[in-house]
Amino acid sequence: MSAPSKSRWANEDPEEEAAIARQKREKEEKKRAKAEKQRKLEQQKQPPATQDKIEKLENAAERPSKRRRLSNEPGTSAENAEIETRRKLLQFPAPEWAPCRHVDNYQRLNHIEEGSYGLVSRAKDLVTGEIVALKKLKIDKSPDGFPVTGLREIQTLQRARHNNIVRLREIVMGNNMNDVYLVMDFLEHDMKTLLDDMQEPFLPSEIKTLLQQMISATEFLHSHWILHRDLKTSNLLMNNRGEIKIADFGMARYYGDPPPKLTQLVVTLWYRSPELLLGAESYGPEIDIWSVGCIFGELLTTDPLFQGKNEVDQLSKIFAVTGPPTQQIWPTFRSLPNAKSLRLPPGSASSSGSLTNPPLLPRSKFPYLTNAGLHLLSSLLALNPAARPTAAECLKHPYFREDPRPKAKEMFPTFPSKAGQERRRRRATPEAPKHGEEAPHLDFANVFGGAAASAEETGAGFALRLG
Ligand SMILES: Nc1ncnc2c1ncn2[C@@H]1O[C@H](COP(=O)(O)OP(=O)(O)O)[C@@H](O)[C@H]1O
Ligand SMILES: [Mg+2]
Repeated sequence: MSAPSKSRWANEDPEEEAAIARQKREKEEKKRAKAEKQRKLEQQKQPPATQDKIEKLENAAERPSKRRRLSNEPGTSAENAEIETRRKLLQFPAPEWAPCRHVDNYQRLNHIEEGSYGLVSRAKDLVTGEIVALKKLKIDKSPDGFPVTGLREIQTLQRARHNNIVRLREIVMGNNMNDVYLVMDFLEHDMKTLLDDMQEPFLPSEIKTLLQQMISATEFLHSHWILHRDLKTSNLLMNNRGEIKIADFGMARYYGDPPPKLTQLVVTLWYRSPELLLGAESYGPEIDIWSVGCIFGELLTTDPLFQGKNEVDQLSKIFAVTGPPTQQIWPTFRSLPNAKSLRLPPGSASSSGSLTNPPLLPRSKFPYLTNAGLHLLSSLLALNPAARPTAAECLKHPYFREDPRPKAKEMFPTFPSKAGQERRRRRATPEAPKHGEEAPHLDFANVFGGAAASAEETGAGFALRLG
C-alpha cells in the first residue's frame, strides 16, 4: 500500500482518515506481538537456577517483608548464643580430673608374686571381663606427709605412653586415701622369672628383638626427661606375642639439664652404675644405660652379670669384668665422694681403652656374641658415664643391622605363664632401695681385695683381669 503523497491537512476526506488510523493500529499490534515472542524466546534460553532465582526474587518482591522477632520466645538469637556457649563448654574433655572409680569394679583373682607383699594381683574387670594387673601403691610417709614416690609413679607412668612400656589403664581407690591402685594391662611373664625357668637362653636373634624394644622404650623415656632408675629383668614384662614392656615406675622421676642433685640411693644393687656406687650426687640417663647393659648381659647368659653382696662387693665385681677405672678412660672419677679411698692395683694406670673407646669386655665371658654385639655391650658398660652411648645412638648400632637380624615378634615362642593360674616363684633378688633411706658411708679402700678385707664383705679373692 502506498501512502498518500499530499498533506494530511490538505486531505479532508473522513473515510481516508479512518483507513489510515486502522493501518496504524494494525502496525502497532504486530510490533507488540513480535516483542512478546522475543521475550519468551530469551526466557527459555536462561539456565534453570537463574530462572528460579528470578522467580524467587519476583515472589519476594510480592511478599511482605519478614516480621522482626521482638518477643522472648524460644529460638531468639540471645537464646541461640547461650546454647552455643553451653555446647562449647560441654566439649571440654577432662578425664584426668574425673573422680577415681572404686577398686570393687575389679575382682581379684590371685597375687602375682609369691613371697612378695602381694602388692600386685591379677584381676578381672567386672564390666568388660578383661584381665588386668592391679598394683597397690606404696604410700610412703614422707616428713611433709606428701606421698612423693606414689605420685611420681603415677605421673611418670601416665606420661609414658609407648608400645614397650606397660599401659596404665586407670587409677582406682579403695575405702581410704592410702588405698590407691594402678590398673595396668596384664602381661603373662616377667623377664626374671622367664630367665630363671628357661632351659636354654634366648637365641641371638631373639635377644636382639628384646634389646631393641627395651632400648626404644628407654629412648622414649629419656627424650621425655624421665629417668626410670630401676631397670632390671624383674621390671621387664613380656607377653606371648614377643613383646616386652618396661614396668615399675616406683623409682622414676623427671630430670633436667644440667642434672639436678638427686639421691644416690636408686637402682637395685646388681644393676647400679659405678658412678652411683661411688657416690655421684648428680647423674643422668647414663645410669639407665648401665642397667640396660646389665640386662643385655643377663639375656646372654641368663644370670645377672654382677651379683654383689653389698656396695663394695658390687664395685669389685664390676671392676673384675671391666678392668679398673683409670685417668685415661674416666678422668673425673677421683672427684666422686667414695673414690677418695679407692686404691688401684699396681700397673692398672696403663690399661687399654680411651675416653671415647672403652676397653672391650672379656670375650671369654660372652663366647656367642658377635664382635659388634661385644662392642655395644662394652660401651653400655663403660665405667665412665660420658662414654656410654645414648639410647638413640644404641638403636643405630650396627649390631641391630647385622645377621642374625632381630627376630620378628610374631615368630617368638610362647611360654607357659606363671602369673596366670599359679603364682610366680622367683629366686630372692635384691630390691631397689627404699625411699628416704640414708646413703651409707662407704669405704672402698679394699675394693681390690686388700689384705684386711674379709671375703664376706668385699668379695675379695676374684682374679682381676686387666686389659
Ligand atoms: N602389668 C603387669 N602384668 C603382669 N605382671 C605384673 C604387672 N606389673 C607387675 N607385675 C608383676 O609384679 C611384680 C612386681 O611389680 P612391680 O611393678 O615391679 O612392683 P614392685 O615395686 O613391688 O617391684 C613384677 O615383677 C611382675 O612380676
Ligand atoms: Mg619391681
